[in-house]
Amino acid sequence: MSARILEGKVFAQQFKEDAGRRAAVLREKYGVNPGLAVIIVGSNPASQVYVRNKNKACEELGIYSEVVEMPETTTKQELIAKIDELNLDRRIHGILVQLPLPAQIAKDEAEILNRIDPAKDVDGFHPVNVGRLVTGEDGLVPCTPAGCIRMLELADIPLDGKRAVVIGRSNIVGKPMLHLLLGKNATVTICHSHTENLAEITREADVLVAAIGKPNFVTADMVKPGATVIDVGINRIAPKKLVGDVDFAAVKEVAGAITPVPGGVGLLTVAMLMQNVVKAAETAAC
Ligand code: GUN
Repeated sequence: MSARILEGKVFAQQFKEDAGRRAAVLREKYGVNPGLAVIIVGSNPASQVYVRNKNKACEELGIYSEVVEMPETTTKQELIAKIDELNLDRRIHGILVQLPLPAQIAKDEAEILNRIDPAKDVDGFHPVNVGRLVTGEDGLVPCTPAGCIRMLELADIPLDGKRAVVIGRSNIVGKPMLHLLLGKNATVTICHSHTENLAEITREADVLVAAIGKPNFVTADMVKPGATVIDVGINRIAPKKLVGDVDFAAVKEVAGAITPVPGGVGLLTVAMLMQNVVKAAETAAC
């Protein structure tokens, strides 16, 4: 039997509507309009598309947004000075530095991101927010994993007591996903490029999250029949062809539920960013 397809747009729409309602309350009750600043350094074409989408989502919800375009040759000091300025700007509740950074400052990524006020860190990358996630305190959580968890909840996919396996250990997806799943009382295993007998482990998963950045890496034989498969990969294999980390056509015949690429988790990321901007504004205003 073919799997239930978890369409990102259905869930993203609900997250955005919720953010829009809360933004309206902030405007009406507190006279505060949530504001997002996105800094883009250089002209990476994929980053330009992502930044446009973030800006468009803000416009849709009436959220104030600024795109700060800085030249490819920007120095660490110039970028940090801009972050310092936005940290003090009362119109701005969320600051996001679009990654990747150009080569000359890529090595300084941690220092640059850590300069963002944790209260405005809508990416959830600052060590203060990472720490809160690990200890189970309320904070700003990275958008993609937060969106996956909210989607699983809305789709009524049980996590409590279930086996969850995450393939990939990035700071953006794999590690936060581990803590969010633990927070839902799942039993979680992280697999990565050094994991031995990977398929043996993934076959135990009730919920399998693929976030490795390798096209069609997860094949049908790696999936337990009936499992939920979340594909976080976005791999461009031809100028106009995007595929995920999961061999969708084959795996959907084994899985119980699956997210497509495109049209899956990617859409949740921007919607959750809107949630984080509103949350940051609520914390500042209330
Ligand atoms: N580039 C690709 N994904 C992301 C993300 O989630 N946040 C930022 N800041 N840059 C990215």
